[in-house]
Amino acid sequence: MEFTKSLKLQKKFNDLIPGGCHTYAKGDDQYPEFMPVYIAKGKGSRVWDIDGNEYIEYGNGIRSVGLGHAFEPIVKAAQEQMKYGANFVRPAKIELDAAEEFLSVIDGADMVKFAKDGSDATNGAVKLARAATGRDMIAVCANHPFFSVDDWFIGSTPMAGGVPNFVREKTVKFFYNDIESVQQLFNEYPGKIACFILEAEKYGPPKDRFLHRLKDLCHEHGAVFILDEMITGFRWHIGGAQKKYDIIPDLSTWGKALGNGFAVSALAGKKEFMELGGLHHDKERVFLISTTHGAETHALAAAIATIKFYKENDVIGTLYEQGSKLERGVNKASEDLGILDKVSIIGPHCCSVFTTRDQDNQPSQPFRTLFIQETMKRGLLMPSTIVTYSHTDADIQETIEKMHDAMVIYKKALNEGVEKYLKGRSIQPVWRKYNN
Ligand SMILES: Cc1ncc(COP(=O)(O)O)c(C=O)c1O
Repeated sequence: MEFTKSLKLQKKFNDLIPGGCHTYAKGDDQYPEFMPVYIAKGKGSRVWDIDGNEYIEYGNGIRSVGLGHAFEPIVKAAQEQMKYGANFVRPAKIELDAAEEFLSVIDGADMVKFAKDGSDATNGAVKLARAATGRDMIAVCANHPFFSVDDWFIGSTPMAGGVPNFVREKTVKFFYNDIESVQQLFNEYPGKIACFILEAEKYGPPKDRFLHRLKDLCHEHGAVFILDEMITGFRWHIGGAQKKYDIIPDLSTWGKALGNGFAVSALAGKKEFMELGGLHHDKERVFLISTTHGAETHALAAAIATIKFYKENDVIGTLYEQGSKLERGVNKASEDLGILDKVSIIGPHCCSVFTTRDQDNQPSQPFRTLFIQETMKRGLLMPSTIVTYSHTDADIQETIEKMHDAMVIYKKALNEGVEKYLKGRSIQPVWRKYNN
């Protein structure tokens, strides 16, 4: 596998675009050093880079592509809409169509506002919570890696450059499935916390009715309960993880798979909060998500077509099924090689990841780098094992075989040292204060 053309572009990418990409998760430091991949095109579960290398891709489009690349019914809907204009001085009828379609699958949400990025939605949720409660503080789940590009969240990470201390002090953390940590925050900051924001599930399901107890505590203490469905939405269930776990949040935030890769996100929730951003109340006005491009017609057409496709086809069932087949095959191969405690697929089948542990069973970035290097060599572009509706049985079988071959090298590296097999520096976590 050659990366000649991509390697030639790597410097230019980094010279012209800070970080060389538009999401840190896509950055060079997240992949093996000498294997930059600049994508030329994608179709279904596959992508091709500019050197002509073909890969089965996982975690497609930072999980925004749930159906598959260039998925015909969605492309057609967007193309058709483009013919009639992209944006106007007053709302287009399709904005209402999109709102109706979206709200038809989200139980307990009365209103929705569309935007482009997930962060627009989470920022809007936090703003509403602050406005509704008159409080400043925000509690975020410490076990969940990302909620927003904005200061209220980034200030709570190790990469907080540019965020003023007075903002950083307003964000506090609680732990998933740890109701004590929630109670502790309410004890420590009585009457101060505007909202709690978390994903309904990440690595494992809620225990002891955690979500319900958290919601009850929020309401008891006058805080807003927000579920971030950016990843779980259109993956756990068509109605989100909130539907799967039978819980209605005050506000929820959506994006990613909602438009199958087209730029559309959404803030949804109860009218008593959402209407604060509206024209028909006599409280203080809230400047809630006001974007030029939120109304972009073809992105909304893509969202409508995506939701319809999910309604008419068992997309969610397929995601679980293909993810389950992949987990079974890979974990069996890993077990047969005697390294299941090092490399295994974990997490919900609709959104799984793989472990890369070292000789001491510790999560290891050098071993992760090696595994990505070896799977890429074999035609898998695979920072995770998250499937789309387009991952066929043949794709899954091919992936299992290629992952097996990569694990053979992994096992040798466990015995002989990872440095012997690793070409170039190790991957580094996004959340670090300095580059080196
Ligand atoms: C759980 C969660 N919330 C919010 C976001 C922010 O979404 P966006 O990158 O579209 O702003 C992400 C993005 O990865 C996410 O994973």
